[in-house]
Amino acid sequence: MKLLSVFGTRPEAIKMCPVIKELEKQTEIESIVCLTGQHEEMLNQVIERFKIKVNYNLRIMKKNQSLTDITCNVLMQLGQVLENEKPDMVLVHGDTSTSFAAALSAFYHHIPVGHVEAGLRTYNVQSPYPEEFNRQCVDMITDLFFAPTEYAKEQLLNEHKKQSQIFVTGNTAIDALNITVETSYYNTNIEWCENHKMILLTAHRRENIGVPMERIFEAVNKILDKYSDVRVIYPVHKNPKVRQIAQKYFGNNSKVRLIEPLDVYDFHNLMNKSYFILTDSGGIQEEAPSLGKPVLVLRDSTERQEGVMAGTLKVVGTRTEQVYCEIERLLTDKEEYSRMSHATNPYGDGYASKRIVEIIKEYLKGK
Ligand code: UD1
Ligand code: UDP
Repeated sequence: MKLLSVFGTRPEAIKMCPVIKELEKQTEIESIVCLTGQHEEMLNQVIERFKIKVNYNLRIMKKNQSLTDITCNVLMQLGQVLENEKPDMVLVHGDTSTSFAAALSAFYHHIPVGHVEAGLRTYNVQSPYPEEFNRQCVDMITDLFFAPTEYAKEQLLNEHKKQSQIFVTGNTAIDALNITVETSYYNTNIEWCENHKMILLTAHRRENIGVPMERIFEAVNKILDKYSDVRVIYPVHKNPKVRQIAQKYFGNNSKVRLIEPLDVYDFHNLMNKSYFILTDSGGIQEEAPSLGKPVLVLRDSTERQEGVMAGTLKVVGTRTEQVYCEIERLLTDKEEYSRMSHATNPYGDGYASKRIVEIIKEYLKGK
């Protein structure tokens, strides 16, 4: 039995590496890993941390790449790998352009698709863009749906996907988090924030680049002007467009530390030591609830409703006034802070990867 796993960005790697580690233990399955290289440094950081064996790297990344670049380059190159390897199944993750193009390529080669993190939805193809489109397309051609939660399963059932093909596994982000977080963790970023409230900031979404991101950063600067006990750490995404805006707004603010993207081990531990988090990231919304860290979601909608229901996430949009007010509330309203920092974990028990691998084994045996 041969399984080809395809991924290419940081978040996919963080959530697929635990699955790959589990696959590496199996004797019945030959596990082949193909990186598209949609990301470069940010992907390599994860591969090195988890020490997984890579069979192919398509190295497609270009500076300021367009969606067309990513989709075309993956489609053009992955076909050859599928023809060489002839896998019994292709495994993809989530909602990136890598996932979409890899699933499409498998479909064109009549190879079944397994989708890790299936069933997340906003039902607005503009937000997140293009991820909502990507994941709905992947699920049109998926044979095995690995839904992280019952809520995700319900959404798939509402779309008339077959119950027998849907499995609630938990989210593999929790498997990764269980490996990385250490209570004794300490480093220079934490030291820099000592005696201050540390806000951890990340922002990179395509639909936020430009005016929305500028409005968010303006709100953060206003907060820092008013509250002297606050410090912001911002590991800046490698996207040059994001870096330019971050530099423009925070380059001269001594209360903001702009740093390079962190290795997943350092990032998870920094999350765990932060006061709260400002982000438009998807993965961070899944990780924060189990660490009990409040998150203000810098987007108009979220597909991670479980975290909103758990009380850890609040969707605050991107308008300066609203972002400012919500940050101020978390800084000044102790009850609100305590309500949001209650640790709950709607995303599973850390054994999602084991379940996924067992289900794949059963499926491939039956074929
Ligand atoms: C991609 C995904 C998004 C995911 C995000 C995670 C798509 C369309 N978007 O968006 O869903 O949330 O990854 O971070 O699939 N760059 C580097 N080095 C790197 C990574 C990126 O230099 O290691 C730069 C390149 O100039 C690249 C740009 O960042 O062109 C944007 O990368 P891209 O993958 O197109 O978009 P993301 O915003 O990272
Ligand atoms: N992350 C990381 N280093 C960083 C910032 C984030 O390792 O400097 C991790 C984070 O813990 C989460 C994932 O990267 O697991 C989220 O990736 P990103 O925000 O780039 O993508 P998204 O989840 O929005 O698709």
